[in-house]
Amino acid sequence: MLQRWHKKKPHLPLIALLFFIFIVSSILYNERNIQQIHQDQGHDTDDHRHQSSLEKTSLFESTAQLNYSLPKEPPVVLDRFSKCRSTVKYTGRKAGSVFRTPDSDRKRGSTESCDLFSGKWVFDNTSHPLYNESDCPYMSDQLACHRHGRPDLGYQYWRWQPHHCNLKRWNVNEMWEKLRGKKLMFVGDSLNRGQWISMICLLQSVIPADKRSISPNAPLTIFRAEEYNATVEFLWAPLLVESNSDDPVNHRLDERIMRPDSVLKHASKWEHADILVFNTYLWWRQGPVKLLWSTEEDGLCEEIDGLGGMELAMEAWANWVASNINPLKKRVFFVTMSPTHLWSREWKPGNEGNCYNEKTPIEDEAYWGSGSDLPTMRMVEAVLSRLSSKVSVLNITQLTEYRKDGHPSIYRKFWETLSPEQLSNPKSYSDCIHWCLPGVPDVWNELLFQFL
Ligand SMILES: *[C@@H]1O[C@H](CO)[C@@H](O)[C@H](O)[C@H]1NC(C)=O
Ligand SMILES: *[C@@H]1O[C@H](CO)[C@@H](O)[C@H](O)[C@H]1NC(C)=O
Ligand SMILES: *[C@@H]1O[C@H](CO)[C@@H](O)[C@H](O)[C@H]1NC(C)=O
Ligand SMILES: *[C@@H]1O[C@H](CO)[C@@H](O)[C@H](O)[C@H]1NC(C)=O
Ligand SMILES: *[C@@H]1O[C@H](CO)[C@@H](O)[C@H](O)[C@H]1NC(C)=O
Repeated sequence: MLQRWHKKKPHLPLIALLFFIFIVSSILYNERNIQQIHQDQGHDTDDHRHQSSLEKTSLFESTAQLNYSLPKEPPVVLDRFSKCRSTVKYTGRKAGSVFRTPDSDRKRGSTESCDLFSGKWVFDNTSHPLYNESDCPYMSDQLACHRHGRPDLGYQYWRWQPHHCNLKRWNVNEMWEKLRGKKLMFVGDSLNRGQWISMICLLQSVIPADKRSISPNAPLTIFRAEEYNATVEFLWAPLLVESNSDDPVNHRLDERIMRPDSVLKHASKWEHADILVFNTYLWWRQGPVKLLWSTEEDGLCEEIDGLGGMELAMEAWANWVASNINPLKKRVFFVTMSPTHLWSREWKPGNEGNCYNEKTPIEDEAYWGSGSDLPTMRMVEAVLSRLSSKVSVLNITQLTEYRKDGHPSIYRKFWETLSPEQLSNPKSYSDCIHWCLPGVPDVWNELLFQFL
């Protein structure tokens, strides 16, 4: 799905195409040169191993120096040019000490008496939206549905009402007090980025323009508020562990390669945060993934299905959390899968559309769409239950299932505005994965607010 979505990029201008051809041919050129060196010099096995990892280095980093005295190199960084030399079936290997001890002191906190995630949507155009789309300077074109022509604004007016209690009202000043002197960081994929944009839109209104700043910088983007000495950051890490998809713009779509034993590349960026909000899901839903263990220098990959790959990544992440998080000092949240609404027959039998033109939430409380994979949910629950004193779950899946009306569909801009032909074909060009803002992710953040 995401794959199709990315392929919808409009045609690159000719210059970009020529540039691309230039890049590809220069890579091929380098590769030939290195093979030449390889043939000239590599003889015994040790040398051979070394050569092949050098070759990888040189292929992926144009500035790499050939340094024969270098002892053990760290594994080559994965990027979109990385490839597996050969692939075998997954051998069942696990990353280090898999954290298996269940938590004894379960911290249930405010959820003890009432499940905030079970409830219904109530139309309430006095309390919502919590901000205006046009007032938020950090709004993304991908999510600004009104600006891109969405005529019905109903999707902005819904409040989440838990069955047995009320949510504390969102209060921007109170939220800033909770964040004073702290670093709040969202880590994950584009759904999590949407939640981060929602958060900075919710928070920015009370900060004077000259007292706030944003440093857009792939893969880490930082929003700063001077007077609170606080930052709200987003780190792109769609698979949590290191992978060939770690560049938020230029990533490979046809092949996923990840290092199941390496969470450290990203952890070095997130370890200083005081409040961490993680997600991962959709990137595991596009078929098998390839595992390249850090100790494997010859490009030998193992192939595993998406769920198995996600479980390995979650375990690597859980090991990191188990050994690095002191819950008295840091808060960690995990956001469960965000549902998609790609087939309207699931809520309207016989209908062959998608989320386009949907204007109201689903009312059937038991509704669960096929985009939310139950085996994945069970796996996530098992991993998180072992961490329950350290990680709070934002279980947004069921409440978000109802919001078939909340997606951008054709009212968005990705790289370019949709063309008239695309606009006239919402069946093929609708985004039924992400969420309009203001909208559903604001409510995820209201839920986060309850737990801080
Ligand atoms: C090769 O690596 C060694 C050890 O890291 C370093 O001291 C030396 O300067 C390097 N030489 C070159 C030419 O990069
Ligand atoms: C809120 O909705 C009601 C019912 O649809 C409508 O009559 C009213 O004008 C709306 N108020 C605002 C502020 O949009
Ligand atoms: C949004 O803008 C309208 C007028 O354009 C204003 O009445 C309303 O109070 C604004 N809402 C928020 C949440 O700022
Ligand atoms: C700002 O917060 C950081 C921690 O995030 C702290 O080290 C620093 O001392 C704070 N600065 C001020 C002026 O409070
Ligand atoms: C989230 O809630 C659903 C019910 O809505 C439940 O089936 C699922 O196990 C929960 N997930 C986690 C990770 O707690």
